Amino acid sequence: MMFTLPKKVTIIEVGPRDGLQNEKQFVPTEIKKQFIAGLRNAGIQEMELTSFVSPKWVPQMADAVEIVLDSYSPAGRDIVLAPNSKGVDRVYSTNCKAVAVFVGVSNTFNKKNINKTTPESMIELKPIIAELKRKNYFVRACISTAFYCPYEGKINEEDTIQLCREFVGSGVDELSVADTIGMASPTEAHSLFSKLKTEFPNTLLTAHFHDTRKMALANILASLQAGIDRFDTSAGGLGGCPFAPGASGNAATEDVVYLLERMGIYTGINLDKLVDSIEIVRPYLSRSIETGYFKLHAPSP
Ligand code: HMG
Ligand code: MG
Repeated sequence: MMFTLPKKVTIIEVGPRDGLQNEKQFVPTEIKKQFIAGLRNAGIQEMELTSFVSPKWVPQMADAVEIVLDSYSPAGRDIVLAPNSKGVDRVYSTNCKAVAVFVGVSNTFNKKNINKTTPESMIELKPIIAELKRKNYFVRACISTAFYCPYEGKINEEDTIQLCREFVGSGVDELSVADTIGMASPTEAHSLFSKLKTEFPNTLLTAHFHDTRKMALANILASLQAGIDRFDTSAGGLGGCPFAPGASGNAATEDVVYLLERMGIYTGINLDKLVDSIEIVRPYLSRSIETGYFKLHAPSP
């Protein structure tokens, strides 16, 4: 092998949040709970459960409180997204102790997604992050449009690094750096993640690839070579941001786990049980699941 690889990789399952947020039909809350339980049973240790956003903007996440009250587990790390103080106040009413804030490097995308420019979001979020840290919460910062924006095109690498710097300076524990519309190339992924690894040795660094152009697995391999050992993935390859046209699903958990395990990298995830968990939610989706591993291993209809 010409490159060094980690022995172990952490998968952060984003299926119940990124995976479902863009589904047209409301997935029944009970099914979401069973999906989360199935993913846990498959060995998922870190997971985005839901998001505390405006139900007018993202109706699919309207049951966030109920999901967390029922499904939160302190065993691994369950995370919820929140865009503002109203969202974080709702998180405070639950047991959840890990919050993801999210901002786009691109102003235009950020405005479409959370109705603020990127600098306005940072002004709002810094005191919120400081309060979360004072209260001992785990804080993850999701950096959208880190490579390309559906409205502004190519993003300057230095602008992404600068936004990461601001978040690290404000005390976050993790940066999840996203190729929102699946346009990054492996060379671009390797370049950005190598620089982030060097500059932020004490921050958890996670890569979040959407698979719009089927480059997510190649980008994951390139990121592994840059030293990244944490990946956001979504069971069944579900996902996409309602405010990023062209953003199809995330890298599929089953395909990523298969890739990693075939390279001798431990993930702790049981693929059969993962397929079972996808089967729970599949009948309620408006899309079919086309991921390689699932198509080979799902029970016949
Ligand atoms: P706004 O309209 O500017 O907000 O939206 P507002 O403060 O004027 O409030 C409007 C209404 O929303 C009010 O209700 C508020 O109470 C309510 P009304 O008085 O009209 O009845 N509201 C809330 N309700 C529940 N929870 C809240 C909340 N905040 C306000 N937290 C806002 C601003 C941020 C709320 C809105 O733009 C929003 O909810 N955006 C969420 C967008 C979203 O969820 N996007 C997907 C997640 S990010 C993503 O997928 C990318 C990622 O995967 C990485 C990648 O791939 O790039 C992470
Ligand atoms: Mg995403």
